[in-house]
Order: sequence, then structure tokens, then C-alpha cells
Amino acid sequence: MTGTTKPLSISVIGCGYLGTVHAVAMAALGHDVVGIDIDADRISLLAAGQAPFFEPGLPERLEAGLGSGRLRFSTDIADAATADLHFVCVGTPQAADGDAADLTAIFAATEALLPHLRAGSVIAGKSTVPVGTAARIAERLEPTGATLVWNPEFLREGRAVADSLSPDRIVIGVAGGGTEPGDRAPGAAIGPAANGATEAAVGMLRSAYARMLELGTPLVVTDLATAELVKGAANAYLATRISFMNAMADVAERAGADISGLAEALGHDERIGPHYLRAGIGFGGGCLPKDIRAFAARATELGAASPAALLATVDSINLGQRSGLVAAIAAHFGGDVAGRRIAVLGAAFKPESDDIRDSPAIDIALELHRRGAVVTLTDPAALPNVASRYPELSLTHGLADTLRDAECVVVATEWPEYREIDPAVAAELVAERTVFDGRNCLDRASWSAAGWLYRGIGRR
Ligand code: UGA
Repeated sequence: MTGTTKPLSISVIGCGYLGTVHAVAMAALGHDVVGIDIDADRISLLAAGQAPFFEPGLPERLEAGLGSGRLRFSTDIADAATADLHFVCVGTPQAADGDAADLTAIFAATEALLPHLRAGSVIAGKSTVPVGTAARIAERLEPTGATLVWNPEFLREGRAVADSLSPDRIVIGVAGGGTEPGDRAPGAAIGPAANGATEAAVGMLRSAYARMLELGTPLVVTDLATAELVKGAANAYLATRISFMNAMADVAERAGADISGLAEALGHDERIGPHYLRAGIGFGGGCLPKDIRAFAARATELGAASPAALLATVDSINLGQRSGLVAAIAAHFGGDVAGRRIAVLGAAFKPESDDIRDSPAIDIALELHRRGAVVTLTDPAALPNVASRYPELSLTHGLADTLRDAECVVVATEWPEYREIDPAVAAELVAERTVFDGRNCLDRASWSAAGWLYRGIGRR
């Protein structure tokens, strides 16, 4: 710990992706942390120092936290009772019967926490929720004298530890609201309607994040609803950017232009910037797809039809990238892929992750398989997850075994090992030199020079 920071006693409720990384990060900052989850298997793994998912840097930090004595895990919510600050990090998946978020876990976690709260306790909601959820939780907490703040998390899988320890910004939503944008003086960032308890709660969050604030991380203090919306809006904007570029790729391809050059030129405009402009088979994972659907569902409830329609279009462009690639592969084989040997490189929704939730790569492999293609799928990290969820898919561990005798190669996740394939070496293994680069991550010139028919997304 640095400066005047003093360690806090913290509980993290829900040890999924977000909660695990947050608990580890809080312990790394010097706080005393107990991570709590109802999943006993997960808690045993964590307590034994084993990260339950692939995340660079996490195993080392987890081990260090456990070794320091500042980090422990439990299935018993009563172990949260000694904490002053409770971060609620449970999942808010898409509901089984529609697009809205399923809030069962967040309300269950709050109810379970109620008997262990006291006046002065602070609950910080980190889960991604539809706007209005925090106000409902705050109502339930009122009799305990505890204070609710909303503190959304923006970490990315594959960079989760770094994002947690060095965030781009910290957002704290409080009942009573924040000051006008621009007024960020320490201690002055709480609106006039805020009371002493709210000020104390913001003070506690400032202590939790003291090291980051000392390093100049921007802090935005606002009202509960705005804090909830910031997270949804950030993911909606990122998803919109990706679908916008995929829409441009469609036009570029039809016009004989090239999306990579277009993206590069757009990215130099400082109002646009270079990130999140990569066209391809689109976004997936446990966040962006379900978050834009939940955001649209909530917007519809609130009577905001246009935002819902915008995000429905973003979603449909995104899903169209997957079906579009399958259609292009089928067209390459004269309309029928049955019996064709197709190598799919990548299963995770993005590199440096073993997460296959809503993965474009998996959707494409499954659809080719359904159409009768002989698909072999490989991935450096995600194969155990694929094997347990999709036993119908045939998996290969080495790149050479995957490529051997393939009539067509599909790059579905841009892992470094796929970007770095030597096209001349790969050419010796396959039956046909045809590659569909679903992530525009290969060097088209060298693949073409090695005799490959190269097909990218939005490229000539
Ligand atoms: C996303 C957000 O980036 C995080 O800020 C947020 O905290 C997180 O969701 C969440 O809500 O928890 P994540 O799902 O880990 O993080 O992944 P991203 O790095 O955003 O990538 C999402 C998808 O977009 C991937 O499938 C990726 O391949 C795709 N993508 C990304 C593109 O197709 N093109 C791009 O230019 C960028």
C-alpha cells in the first residue's frame, strides 16, 4: 500500500470471472479479502490456488494473494459479516425466455447478505445490470442502515488482471447523485442531495482504490442510474463500432475496396481512434452479445424504441457475419459442404481466453458440422470447454494434425500461433490451399504468394 491508504476488510460476493479477478486484485492492493460463492467446486479450486479459467497473470496473483494471508475463499455468506465493504459480482446472464437480463442471482446474493450488514456497511454493485436495478436493491437495504453504491467494472477477458489494477476510469454511482461533469475536486464530487452515509461510502471506495487514484485514474461520481447506464452504454458502443465496421466491410467487398486500409485511415482521425475497428466474424463472449440484448430490452421497457432498434441491428449484423462466412465457404464448394474436410483454427471467442460462450468460432464450426462437413477444430486453450459442451465436434490438439488433408482452412480466432503460421509449411499439409481468414489476421500477400486462395472479410 502507498501513501495514506489503510487496508480495508472486503468481501467479494460471486467468484465468476469478474469476482475472482476483483478479489485477487483487491488483495494485491493490500486489502483483506474473502471471496464467496455458492459453487463449492469453484471455491475449492480457488482456495487451492487454481484459477478456474484461463486468464494470463491470474494464477500468479492468486497464489500471491493466498500466500500473503490476505485472500481467502468460502461458500458461507456469514464469512462476509466482518467485512466493511461488500462487492457484489454475481452473473447477470441472458434470461432463458427472452433478451432481458436474468437478475435472480443478484437479488439472491443481496438477500443472503442482508442479515450480515450493519449501519455503515457499504455494498458496491459491480455486476452489469439494467438501469433501475440499483434503486430496487437500495430499497431492500434501507432497514439495515447499509449504503449501496454502484461501481461498474470494465475489465476485458485476456487482460482482466491489468484492467482491474490499472482501469481507464473508476465510476461510482450514489443515491443523491454526483456533481456536474468537470468538478472532480477531492471530497467535492458528491451532489447536494447526498448525505453523510453516502459521503462515507464514497470515502470507503476511494480507500479501496487509493493506489489507482494516486496514480491519476479519473474518477466519475454520479447517481446510481447513470453509473448503471455507463457500463451498458460502453458495451453497446463497442458492439456498435464492431458492427459498423462489419457493415462497412460488406460495402467494401461489394465495391472492390479493402476494409483494412479503410480502418487504418479512419483510425488516424483522432475523433475516431484506432481501436475496435477490426472487421471479421464479429463479437462474442459472455458480455457484449447478452449486454446489448438486455440494454435493448430495458430501453423498450422505458419506451425508448430507437435505441432498441439500433442495438437489434447491431446484433443482427453481428450474427450475419457468422452465417455469411458459412455461406461463403459453402459457395466455394458449389453450395454443398457435405463430406468436405474443413479445418477450423480457434474456438475461443477471442485470443488469450478459453471462453466459448457465444463464440463466433463455435457457431461456425457447429453449422459446418450440421451441414455434413468433416470439421476438425483446434484451439490452444479452449478445447476442454468445447469437449464438455459440444461432444459432436471432432477436436485436434496440434496444428499439423488439424491442417492435414484439409480442403479448406478457416481462421476463427486470431491466436498468435495462427497469425504466425508459415503458409508454405501449411501448404504441404493440406489437400487444397484455400483459407478463409475470419479475423483478417493473416498476411494476405505471403499466403497468396505460397499458392493459397485467400478470402478475408471485406477484402478484395
Ligand atoms: C467486453 C468489454 O470490452 C469490457 O470493457 C467489459 O468489461 C466486458 O465486455 C464485460 O462486460 O464484462 P470482453 O467480452 O472480454 O470485454 O471482450 P472484448 O475484448 O471487448 O471483445 C469482444 C468481442 O469483440 C470478441 O469476440 C472480439 O473478437 C470482438 N472484436 C473486438 C471484434 O470483432 N473487433 C474488434 O475490433 C474488437
